[in-house]
Parts: sequence; structure tokens; C-alpha cells
Amino acid sequence: MDSYSRRIIQVAAFAALSIVFVLASTDKALTQDATFVGSETCGECHDVEFENYTSFSKKAHSGDSVKIMAGDLTSSELEECYSCHMTGYGQPGGFISFDETPDMANAGCETCHGPGSAHVDAGGDPDYIKANLDVDDCTHCHNSERVAAFDFKPMLFGGAH
Ligand code: HEC
Ligand code: HEC
Ligand code: HEC
Ligand code: HEC
Repeated sequence: MDSYSRRIIQVAAFAALSIVFVLASTDKALTQDATFVGSETCGECHDVEFENYTSFSKKAHSGDSVKIMAGDLTSSELEECYSCHMTGYGQPGGFISFDETPDMANAGCETCHGPGSAHVDAGGDPDYIKANLDVDDCTHCHNSERVAAFDFKPMLFGGAH
């Protein structure tokens, strides 16, 4: 499949999911005091979701997308990448660097469900994890500015060398 068709499919999938989320409600208070634990920990109890995520979601490899381009970027540009491509960058338990926190070098479960330590410590109590997501939970990463920047920065090197 060419990249244009792939993009169309991604945009359609995103739009369809977004409609579902507009209909759902949120409870942001649930995860306020929790810290990030990483997708591997979630996978200990949610093996089906973990398996699907690891096999099918591009988010499972979103650290690689940054790593590939790291040589062409300044450290402040890299930090911007981390805020969307990693789990919990700059927050307790979250991504620090590829060497120190390899398990957080992806856009993991907690980028959507929020930091999960309280949920894990409570043996999986559903009251301590965000389950109902809103479209706002996506657009802080999937924003129009990003689409423009995406077309500019990575494509700048695309196919040229
Ligand atoms: C110790 C085991 C365990 C771990 C680790 C764990 N969970 Fe859970 N999780 C559960 C159990 C048990 C439930 C409740 C299942 C039910 O009632 O159907 C649950 C429910 C959920 C729900 C649904 C909540 C709802 O209101 O329906 C989500 C979302 C969730 N977990 C996400 C995560 C994420 C993200 C992580 C990693 C940060 C994680 N879980 C780690 C055991 C765990
Ligand atoms: C923390 C930032 C972040 C959040 C929040 C986020 N995404 Fe993503 N998403 C990404 C990144 C980064 C990629 C691209 C990964 C790559 O290829 O490097 C991506 C990729 C995708 C894709 C491409 C297809 C695929 O296989 O993964 C879809 C669809 C998608 N996200 C939907 C969503 C939806 C729906 C939400 C909200 C529930 C959401 N995302 C929330 C960062 C985020
Ligand atoms: C505001 C959030 C955000 C920031 C900041 C961000 N990205 Fe992304 N990136 C995304 C999302 C969302 C996607 C997937 C959707 C899309 O194609 O726009 C993506 C896709 C990508 C892809 C394409 C992956 C593929 O398989 O198609 C690459 C490469 C990439 N980003 C690299 C970077 C680099 C390098 C930086 C830092 C200079 C960066 N991104 C900054 C959110 C972000
Ligand atoms: C792109 C955002 C996103 C990511 C990343 C994500 N989830 Fe979810 N998850 C959702 C949404 C949205 C729902 C609610 C689906 C629904 O309402 O049916 C959900 C539902 C769940 C549930 C409740 C049971 C179910 O299937 O409906 C569990 C458990 C869960 N996710 C665990 C995980 C785990 C574990 C990971 C990481 C391996 C993960 N999620 C990654 C968006 C995400």
C-alpha cells in the first residue's frame, strides 16, 4: 500500500474513533495522584490488550520513529518529540531517556488511560483508572499543527538521500 492510501486509512480510522469518544464521558480526577508504570506492567494482567497493542499499534514503536531521526535534531527539538512519542515524559515514573527508561520509549497504555500506579497497587480496582476516553485525550497529540510539522520535518529528508 502506498503512503497516501495508508494516510487516508489512518485518518478515517481516527475520525471514526473520535466520534465514539465524543459520545463517551471522562473522569480525569481518577488518575491525578498516580505515577507512570509502563505498558509491560499493564500487560501482566491485561495480556489480550497488551498483545494487540504490541502487534498492531504503531504507538508500540513510536520511540523508534524518533530514534531514527535523532541525529538530525537538536536536544530541544528532541524533547518536543518525547512529549508525544513517549510515555509520561517529564512526569513521575515516565520517560527520561532511551538508556534509563527503555520500557517507556513508546506511546504506551498510559498515554490514553492515564498514569496507572494507583490502579495496579489496588490490585486492578477499576475506580483508579481512566476507561472512558474523550476526543480531547487524542487531540493533544493528534493536532493539526502536528500534521503540518509532520509533513515538514520528517519529509524534509524523505527520499532525498
Ligand atoms: C494486578 C493486575 C492489573 C494490572 C497490573 C493492571 N490492571 Fe487494569 N484491571 C485489572 C482488573 C482486575 C480490572 C477489572 C476488570 C473487570 O472488572 O472487568 C482492570 C480494569 C482495567 C480497565 C477498565 C476499567 C473500567 O472502568 O472498566 C482499564 C482501562 C485498565 N484496567 C487499564 C490498565 C492499565 C492501563 C494498566 C497499566 C497501567 C493496568 N490496567 C494494570 C487488573 C490489573
Ligand atoms: C501521547 C500522544 C498520543 C495520544 C494521547 C494519542 N496518540 Fe495516537 N499516536 C501517537 C503517535 C506518536 C503515533 C504514531 C506512532 C509512530 O508511528 O511513531 C500515533 C498513531 C496513531 C494511529 C495510527 C495507526 C496505528 O497503527 O497506531 C491512530 C489511528 C491513533 N494514533 C489514534 C489515537 C486515538 C484514537 C487516540 C485517543 C484515544 C490517540 N491516538 C491518542 C500519539 C498519541
Ligand atoms: C504533538 C505531538 C507530536 C510531536 C511533538 C511529535 N510527533 Fe511525531 N507523530 C505524532 C503523531 C500523532 C503521529 C502519527 C499521526 C500522523 O501521521 O500525523 C506522528 C508520526 C510520526 C512519524 C511517522 C511514523 C510512521 O510510521 O509513519 C515520525 C517519523 C515522527 N512522528 C517523528 C517525530 C519526530 C522526530 C518528532 C520531533 C521532532 C515528532 N515526531 C514530534 C505526534 C507528534
Ligand atoms: C489510543 C488509546 C489507547 C491506548 C494506547 C490503550 N487503550 Fe485501552 N482502551 C482505549 C479505549 C478508547 C477503551 C474503551 C473502549 C470501549 O469503550 O469499548 C479502552 C479500553 C480498555 C480496557 C477495558 C476493557 C475493554 O477492552 O474495553 C482495558 C482493560 C484496556 N483498555 C487496557 C489497555 C492496555 C493494557 C493498554 C496497553 C497495552 C491499552 N489499553 C492501551 C484506548 C486505549
